[in-house]
Amino acid sequence: IIEDVQYRIVFDSRGRETVECEVVTEESVGRAMAPSGASTGSEEAVAVDPFKIEEIEDRVSRALIGISVFDQREVDRALREEDGTENFSSIGGNFAITASIATAKAAANALGIPLFQYLAGALAETLPYPLGNVIGGGAHAEGSTSIQEFLIIPVGAESFFEAQYINTRVHMQLKKIFKERGIFAAKGDEGAWAAQITDEQAFEILSEAISRVEDEHGVKVRMGVDVAATELWDGERYVYKDRKLTKEEQISYIAELVDRYELLYVEDPLQENDFEGFAELTKQVRAMVCGDDLLVTNVRRIERAIELSSVNTVLIKPNQIGTLSDTADAVRLAKSRNWDVVVSHRSGETEDEGLAHLSVAFNATLIKTGVVGGERIAKLNELIRIEEMIDAKMAEIRW
Ligand code: PGA
Ligand code: ZN
Repeated sequence: IIEDVQYRIVFDSRGRETVECEVVTEESVGRAMAPSGASTGSEEAVAVDPFKIEEIEDRVSRALIGISVFDQREVDRALREEDGTENFSSIGGNFAITASIATAKAAANALGIPLFQYLAGALAETLPYPLGNVIGGGAHAEGSTSIQEFLIIPVGAESFFEAQYINTRVHMQLKKIFKERGIFAAKGDEGAWAAQITDEQAFEILSEAISRVEDEHGVKVRMGVDVAATELWDGERYVYKDRKLTKEEQISYIAELVDRYELLYVEDPLQENDFEGFAELTKQVRAMVCGDDLLVTNVRRIERAIELSSVNTVLIKPNQIGTLSDTADAVRLAKSRNWDVVVSHRSGETEDEGLAHLSVAFNATLIKTGVVGGERIAKLNELIRIEEMIDAKMAEIRW
């Protein structure tokens, strides 16, 4: 039974204030922290100013005290009811998701089992491949590439540990290549390399890094991108540093990239409301086509995407929707259509390791949580611990 709900203001990886929530029962405490995005979808749950902590702590406490931590649905329903809006603009998606996940952690702690096991029971049977962000620009690093994220998936790795090891080698190899070529590179919000290079150069440099790592370690690595195309869209065209593309040109350009670089993964190739454009691309390519801003972990938007065959993969960010139950519903719906599930961090993160547990509980194909940096490593190292705990195999890559 929830006896108390307490919030405090802590800091995220960008140094911004965020909230941490503790849900307290007689037997246990659960704690969760809220991440935040820079290229947010317009239909996401809204984060409320952390400094409204006093008022919101009062409201959430009143709503949740007395409910059992084992009744996640009821806790999440009470949060929605207290908020009273579609997008948590009253109590804040940040305050809601932390209370929701802290509840699940308190329940797991009361039982003395890890969170993934509490959420999935015997169903946790695979570990996700880490989808590593290694070169980045867009809203995460001003002046770098137009495409927001150049990603890698070490598909040949046989364990999670090996997979993360390979991702770190590619990240290191990139540093070396930038140095060899006299290109100054710094790190963006998610620890990916940012440099004054074109998207084409980024593909070329990443291909070189991958082939060196493949040669040295004998493990196949594939590429992906998060175009974050809503950020490029000016209402009529997709605006790159050196050119502007119409919707049709954008679709051909992305299809061409998939062919040329054998991309395994393409996220948000078009702006967030172009369900039809997504469908055209998905028909044309053999790759994971994933909706982030398009779907915002929202069952209604996923239903629309199912109707129109817009994508074959969903990005799951719990703070986009505000509760764990809504997140689980989004996962369930996507899986019922045989979509791949990718569980994802935000560009502003904390050391909260909870996401690692969700990725295992949801049997995600991929976890997108960077390659380096303490707030990213917190999740990756937790997956190494989970791998030690259970006899799981790596997720199946079907593409
Ligand atoms: P974010 O973006 O800055 O909104 O977290 C990450 C993403 O687009 O996947
Ligand atoms: Zn994205």
